[in-house]
This record gives sequence, C-alpha cells and structure tokens, in this order.
Amino acid sequence: MGFEGGFDMARKMRARSIGILTSGGDCPGLNAAIRGVAKAALYHGMKVIGVMDGFRGLVENRTVQIEDQHVSGILTLGGTFLGSSRDKPYKMKMGDKVMDMTSVAIANAKRLQLDCLVCLGGGGTQKNALHLHKEGGINVLTLPKTIDNDVAQTDVSFGFDTALGIATEAIDRLHTTATSHHRVIVCELMGHSAGWLALGAGIAGGADVIMIPEIPYNLEAVAEHLRNRRHHGKRFSIIAIAEGAVSREEAKLLAKGGKPARMKLETVINNGIHLVREPMSSRVARQIQQLTGLEARVTQLGHVQRGGTPSAADRLLCTRLGTKAGQLLMDGVYNVMVAVRGDECVPVPLAKVAGFTKYVPANHPWVKTARLVGTCMGDVAEA
Ligand code: F6P
Repeated sequence: MGFEGGFDMARKMRARSIGILTSGGDCPGLNAAIRGVAKAALYHGMKVIGVMDGFRGLVENRTVQIEDQHVSGILTLGGTFLGSSRDKPYKMKMGDKVMDMTSVAIANAKRLQLDCLVCLGGGGTQKNALHLHKEGGINVLTLPKTIDNDVAQTDVSFGFDTALGIATEAIDRLHTTATSHHRVIVCELMGHSAGWLALGAGIAGGADVIMIPEIPYNLEAVAEHLRNRRHHGKRFSIIAIAEGAVSREEAKLLAKGGKPARMKLETVINNGIHLVREPMSSRVARQIQQLTGLEARVTQLGHVQRGGTPSAADRLLCTRLGTKAGQLLMDGVYNVMVAVRGDECVPVPLAKVAGFTKYVPANHPWVKTARLVGTCMGDVAEA
C-alpha cells in the first residue's frame, strides 16, 4: 500500500460505509458539520454510522446508524448530538487504569466494515485519527474544529467565528460597566497555546490591551499603557487576555522545559479538602492593581465561548466542509483533512496537519492592526 504525501494512493475505492465521530472540546457548528457530512454521504448512497463520545465510543463499541431524519433540524443546534470526549485511543482511562486501547478501536472499526472514519476535531483529534491509520490501516478523513483556530494547514477552523462573536459581545458589555466605575477589567478568553480568539475579539471589541501566548508580556509595559490612558482622561481600560498568556520570565522558563509558577500555585485550604489555583487572569488583575493603583476586576468567559447556536458564517463553513468531505469520500480520497484555503475547501495530507499548531505569528497583520490603533500587545511597542 503506497502512502505518497499522506494520500493513500493504493485505495481509490469510493466509500460505501462511513463512521462519523466528534472528539475534543465541543464547539458551535459540530452538529452542522455532522449534518453536512451525513447528508452528502447519504445523498451518494453511503451507509452512515455515528460513533458516540469520540474515540471512547469506538473503543466501547457505542454506535448508532444515521439516517436523514437524525440530521434534520440540527443545523442551528450548539454542541454535538454524538457527544464528545478528550479520550485518546492509545491512552484511555478504563476503570481505574489507563490503557492503550488502539487495537480495540481498530478491531471495532474493521468489524463495523467502515471504509472511512470521519473525525471532527482539533489538534488532538488530528493526531488520534492519524494514529489509527498508521497503526491499523484505517482510512480516516478529518475536519478542522476548534474555537482556538489553531489547527495547522487551514485558514480557519469551524467554531472560531461563533466564539469570536460571543467574546466580542462580552467585551462590548464590559466596556459600559468599566466606564461607569472607572475600572480596569481583565477579560480572560480561551486559547491555551494560540491567541487567535483573544486577538480577534480584542480588536473587534476595542480592547486597550491584548495579551496572547505568542507575545510574552511585560506587566510594567502594560501598567505604563494604563497610566498613560488615565493621564489622557481615559478612566477605564479593558484587557483581553488569552488563558495561555505568559510573562517574559515564564516564557524563558518554558523554553528551558520548566513550568511557570502559576501552574504550581495550588494551595490546600479547608484542612486539605479543597485544592485551589489562582486563575491567571486574577493574578494579572491583582498585579496590575498593585502597579497602577487602579481598581481592577476579572471576568473569565470560560465555556460560554463554546456554547449555543453557531453563527451564520460557521453554519456555512460547516456545510461547505461537510459536503466537500462527502465528495472526497465518493472519490476515495482518504487520510486527509479538509482545509479552508480562501474560497475553496481542499484536501491536505493528514501527516502535514497532525502534531502541528497554527500559532499567531508575531508580525501577523492582525497584530500590526492592533498596534496601529494604539492597542498595547503586552510588550513594549516597536516604533
Ligand atoms: O480546545 C479548545 C479549548 O477551548 C481551549 O482553549 C481550552 O483550554 C480548552 O478547550 C478547555 O476545554 P475543557 O474544559 O473542555 O477541557
């Protein structure tokens, strides 16, 4: 069996039976994408099997046959009707043990006689799908999903646009209350390793400071920016910060393979019963208040960013990606991710996606845009 550039050249048989699973953190648009894949596959006469709760459902053999009525009326629904989990086939908690369940997952996919397993997910899902292909010769095809927008090789991932809208509206709302009370409000957004969401929503919402993992911050530079705003009569400020933002010191530590102190900041309270960790945004707000004397508050948007109905742009994207997947399955193109490139949806070898992350380049046009409207990016702005 040949494997040229990640395309499985030996198998050009069109798919007659496919499985679909959703894996990793959920996001708005998953149902729309399942619908797109399933409707196109059913249109082409394929049998469609839904696998419940991501790779766990494959290991535990929990499946459901999908007919047209199952995917009718779900375009606008948030979440995923198949359920999702972060379980990896090669490292799965089974009872009180963690086991490599790869062979079971492969055996179940073969027993189901799936010509291809369609996996909807983010970075972890891309890796898990490639793992099943490499270990068991299972044909896989993936779609890029995540509000973090950090899947490699695609212009955009579905879920991002909806989260961008939710986060921007939140920042808008924080503006009015910050103005009334002359406060600094630190708004924490999701994005553990890439800052697309904080950057996009920060620009769209007019945040005064944006802090993202790719640009390690210097709190003194942030404090100086806030003092200047106050000096010019601006009595409130909004800071949009990605959950994975790191200070310059932490970035150096991470580069040496260490762990930033905040990850170790677990304190035992109530006689050892309860463990608490100071959220990163609280720490930043506390330090900003100390440095500037300005009153600071914190808002963590958390899973609100992943909930509810998908935006029109995400519904359109999911339907385009899903139906393109259906076409590729018809053409027997496997072991690819369907990526967005401009107006097109194109197959990209999965080997070029799995294990890679799309970070925000420090000189990305969005970063330049933010700087040009006077937004502090957490560092000392270059002239
Ligand atoms: O993977 C996307 C993401 O939204 C990250 O930004 C965030 O760190 C993570 O999910 C949190 O997800 P959960 O609480 O479901 O593990």
